[in-house]
Parts: sequence; C-alpha cells; structure tokens
Amino acid sequence: MDMIAALERRRPITVTVTGAAGQIGYSVLFRIAGGQIFGDDQPVSVRLLDVPSKIRNLEGVVMELEDCGYPLLRDTFMTVDPVAAFDGANTALLVGAHPRLVGMERGDLIAANSRIFASHGRALNESAADDIRIIVVGNPANTNALVVGHHAPDIPKSRITSLARLDHNRAAFQLARRAGVLSNSVRRMTIWGNHSATQFPDVFHASAGAVSGAELAEDTKWLTQHFIPTVSSRGTSVLEVRGHSSQASAARATVEQLRDWYFGTAEGDWTSAGVWSHGEYGVPEGLVFSYPVTSDGDNWTVVEDLELNEFSRDHIAVTIQELIDERDQVSAMGLI
Ligand code: NAD
Ligand code: LMR
Repeated sequence: MDMIAALERRRPITVTVTGAAGQIGYSVLFRIAGGQIFGDDQPVSVRLLDVPSKIRNLEGVVMELEDCGYPLLRDTFMTVDPVAAFDGANTALLVGAHPRLVGMERGDLIAANSRIFASHGRALNESAADDIRIIVVGNPANTNALVVGHHAPDIPKSRITSLARLDHNRAAFQLARRAGVLSNSVRRMTIWGNHSATQFPDVFHASAGAVSGAELAEDTKWLTQHFIPTVSSRGTSVLEVRGHSSQASAARATVEQLRDWYFGTAEGDWTSAGVWSHGEYGVPEGLVFSYPVTSDGDNWTVVEDLELNEFSRDHIAVTIQELIDERDQVSAMGLI
C-alpha cells in the first residue's frame, strides 16, 4: 500500500481544544494538524470549543487550518457545546479560561475559572472516548484539573494532568545557560508542586551536559536569587513585559507534554507533569501535583525514592500548602 493510501485508511486521533479562538489555542491547533504531536503518519480530527461570542473567530481559525492544506487534517468541528466538543475525544487540551491580567496571581483566577472546569469535566465524563488523555492548561491549572477529576468520576484519574512542562522548559533553559550547554543536554530536571510562584524548580538531581545541577546549586546566590525566582515568576515577567500571558512557549510546552505522553520519555530521563497524587513524597492524596514523571507511552509514573535535602523539603512544603488552600477554596465554592 502506498503512503497516501495508508494515511487515508488510518483511524484519526480526535483532539478537542477548548478556548480554541484564544492565543494558545491558535498556536497549538496548527501544530496538532501539522503532525508535530502525533507524527507524519497519524491523521487527526480536530474539535474546537469556545464561547458563543467567539464563534466568528473560530470560523476564521477553521478557514486557516483548511488553508494550510495539511494532509493529516481529516476534519474539523466547531461548537459552543462542551458535550458535543468532547464527543469521542481521545485527547482534550483544556485551554479555555480567562487568562490573568497584570497584577494578578494565577490563584486569583479560581473564582473566574473553576466553574468552567466543572462543566467541562461533566461534559468529558459524558462524551469523551474511553482512552481520553487530558491536559489542563487554563489557570490555575493544577486546581482546575482537580475540579475536572471530581466532575468526571468515570474517567480514571491517571488520564487527567495539568501542564507543568512550561515551567520545566524554563528551568532547563536557565540551567543550560548557566552550564554553558544547549538546553537539550539537560536531564532529570524537576518542577515540584503548583504552576504558581510557589513551585519548586529542583536542580539537585539534574545535570546539564557534564555538569551536575547539585554542583551548580552550591552557588547559593545563583540558586536562590536567580534560578528559582526567574523560573517561578517567569509567567508574571512575560505578562508584565508582553502585556499578555505566554502564548508560543505555552503551546510548545503543551505539545511536548502530550507527545511524551503518547511516545514515552527518554530512557534514563524524566520530565515534569501535574498528576493526581497518591501520596508520593508526602503530598496529600488527591491533589494535582507536579512531580518528576516518566511515560511509557500510555501512563505517567511518578519517579519515586529521590532523596530530598532540607532545602527541597521546605520548598515543597510551601507549594503543597498552597495547593491545599486552593483545594479548600474550590471546596468552599461547592465544586468538589
Ligand atoms: P485567551 O484569552 O487568549 O484565550 C482563552 C479562550 O478561552 C478565549 O477564546 C475564551 O473565549 C475561551 N473561553 C473562555 N471561557 C470558556 C469556556 N467556558 N469554554 C470554552 N472556551 C472558553 O487566553 P490564553 O492566552 O489562550 O490562555 C488560556 C489559559 O491558559 C489562561 O487561563 C492562561 O492563564 C492559561 N495559561 C496557562 C499556562 C500554563 O503553563 N499552565 C501557560 C500560559 C497560559
Ligand atoms: C505562564 O506561566 O506563563 C502562564 O501560566 C500564564 C500566567 O498567567 O502566568
């Protein structure tokens, strides 16, 4: 069978993107349809969800998707109905939410955004495919993923993740720059906890080329005054300087987290993703927490038994507490 015939016969992966008329949606959709996630031989069906006031914008996005002439794009479907949007979805990228504005922390978005994720959780539960894989991007991403899980009781918690890859990439780049190597020489970087200013980017188990992260961390001025604040407040810095929250870097991170989920992480390495805690490293069960994780192409597994020094434990305790507070807030809203 020639390649074209093989492509025509192959079953497409159905991907739903919420907030598809927004900034990140616009960046990520073209990567999905262009084959950057699932590869050059995997057709995709793309389902786009946004709110009624954005329907004309969605039409424009669909026109442009068609105009790219992607051979992998089997079909597109746009809607304002979440149940229809997630119908048969194998992958859902939950981007649709209000972004924060200058002066806000991501946690300030709980009141505005968590109800959206309750409704999208219910819709996913009703209509997504059995093998659904979910990445929550809309902020506050970890707690929104928690809300999704509570409203989608039939979806295994292992299928629900939040985006930590942007923080991971930010940390890898800063470490590589310090070590004078390329960012793809960085291994075993970890982001612990919340996608917020309390996250703990951990270099103690990482390496950058021949240099160990622990060695670089001996320069405590670099660690505490440059590395950690740069990574953990990068979203705020981008927002303040650009006037909008991160777009291209967030889309790239989403693509990479999903690709690693489908194709697996490299042998001897790990990445970071927000996953449902089962109590690993003393994190309360049921929080969505960024851990060091590996993927076998189907499931994420938390890397266990890493030794944590007192500095790391103290930082991790702070981000755990913030996630507990966020959980209590959505609980007080009656959402979990
Ligand atoms: P944007 O405002 O450009 O787009 C958001 C889109 O979501 C809009 O088109 C809006 O109409 C839509 N939307 C709002 N409510 C919806 C609903 N109920 N159903 C469907 N769609 C809905 O924002 P953006 O820059 O694309 O950012 C989207 C979200 O991603 C924000 O919450 C932002 O803070 C977050 N974000 C997260 C990360 C991360 O690393 N987790 C990184 C960057 C941005
Ligand atoms: C980011 O980290 O860039 C995003 O979460 C956007 C934000 O509000 O910081």
